[in-house]
Amino acid sequence: MTPIESAVSAIEDIDAQVIACVVAAVDDAPHAGRDADRLAGAAGVDLAAVLEALHSTADVGDVTRVPLRLGDRTVLGLFVGVGPRDEAGADALRRAAAVAARNATKDATLAIVVPGDVAGDVDDAERGRVMAEGAGLGAYAYTEHRTKSADAPSLERITLVPGEDVDAEAVARGVARGRAVADGANTARDLVNTPPAFKRPPELAARIVGLAESAGMTARVFDEDALREGGFGGLIGVGRGSSVQPRLVELAYAGDGVGDDHVVLVGKGITFDSGGLSLKPSEAMVTMKSDMSGAAAVAGAMLVVARLELGVRVTGLLALAENMPGGDATRVSDVLTHRNGTTVEVLNTDAEGRLVLADALAYGQELEPTAMIDLATLTGAQVVALGGRIAGLMGTDDQLLSTLADAGTAAGESLWRLPLPSEYREHLRSEVADLKNIGKAREAQTIVAGLFLKEFTGEVPWAHLDIAGPAFDDAGDGGIIPKGATGFGVRTLVRYLETLG
Ligand code: BES
Ligand code: MN
Ligand code: ZN
Repeated sequence: MTPIESAVSAIEDIDAQVIACVVAAVDDAPHAGRDADRLAGAAGVDLAAVLEALHSTADVGDVTRVPLRLGDRTVLGLFVGVGPRDEAGADALRRAAAVAARNATKDATLAIVVPGDVAGDVDDAERGRVMAEGAGLGAYAYTEHRTKSADAPSLERITLVPGEDVDAEAVARGVARGRAVADGANTARDLVNTPPAFKRPPELAARIVGLAESAGMTARVFDEDALREGGFGGLIGVGRGSSVQPRLVELAYAGDGVGDDHVVLVGKGITFDSGGLSLKPSEAMVTMKSDMSGAAAVAGAMLVVARLELGVRVTGLLALAENMPGGDATRVSDVLTHRNGTTVEVLNTDAEGRLVLADALAYGQELEPTAMIDLATLTGAQVVALGGRIAGLMGTDDQLLSTLADAGTAAGESLWRLPLPSEYREHLRSEVADLKNIGKAREAQTIVAGLFLKEFTGEVPWAHLDIAGPAFDDAGDGGIIPKGATGFGVRTLVRYLETLG
């Protein structure tokens, strides 16, 4: 991953080949801030005239490229928009930094100036943080399986430089946080973008354990024998159709001076969702290597927590299985028994996420945490309801849910609350078992999936994020969100855990 640092420098002396400054709109016209003016001035350029001539809009996502002669060197000036000056906040700064990273010259060194004269209510540490986050996220590319150089950014280094009247020490602190967050999200992206043959459950478990241990966490892997002995009938049942067995990964972090809070994070980790015997049509499988995005987000967030040494106890439970239609696959109408003894009639093997999560949630409940949060690419209906940028948020504890929604807002990830009405629980009534794993066709499937999970959470304050839409993007947004895996959830989880320690 591209190294990200902070350094203090007079703007005209910045040691980089590409220098990015933000431009805001004032009265609908681009208006260079103090730092941009100073940079252009040092090169003898009338920036206002250049921005006008090159049709800069100063909108978020807009970039104007201006070569600048500084003394005896030429640098590329990138003037990136943050939108109307009075409306630009942390989100606009994050996105502008991402756009700068995506638009810098290949293999270059990039400096991004952290401005003091836009985003009025954002403190200097937060400025450094969100711009480092954005830069790291924007610089991401998945190149593991390319043999030729890709049309993707690859920067040698990114330096965040505090602009005029910006506290350098605060920016440095923020950059250290933002860089860690971007790295965690990018690690989650790498896991999700990995082709499914290279991350089958045992291999993915080993890879995540390696990452966790090198960050100082402890890890335990439940193999098929441990799962069978432990009564994890959902994980075993979903994994049966695959030639490789499921795994449950338990990651544990406890920083120094942790308080009483203990958060259990649960992630859906279906390494490929073919649907099982209820086979998906081919087009619907195309993105199903991303069906372990919840598990990837949990792992990514915990790596950040460990790196930042947050003072909170966190346990991660990653339910890894491959949903395949093999000869021993769970049949439609089979009954599984979960970790807590609940029996479930499987009437659609493509509703497999809730089956593996049920076991993990039941096990998480046994750890008696103060809060439990699961992330899952759980339902196609979530994508229909909220689309590709907003996750569905459900759960049993109003305070937890509103704290999470606020964490999402601060992190630049949107969560929208859906109800869990007990009236709909009857959709899950089975004729032969305690529950069935599907409700009614075309009726509230995201909510009904949430109600299914609720059965396995007991009295523990619990939140469920259905991230089916925002976890993976075929198009990208040209800035923070790349084509493919987005790392959705990592930033929100870290922000939430920061509120606890
Ligand atoms: N992994 C899918 C949900 C999904 C769909 C995620 C599209 C991302 C994009 C999940 O396992 C699934 O297949 N859900 C079914 C449930 C149904 C059979 C009750 C769905 O939503 O169609
Ligand atoms: Mn499925
Ligand atoms: Zn699935």
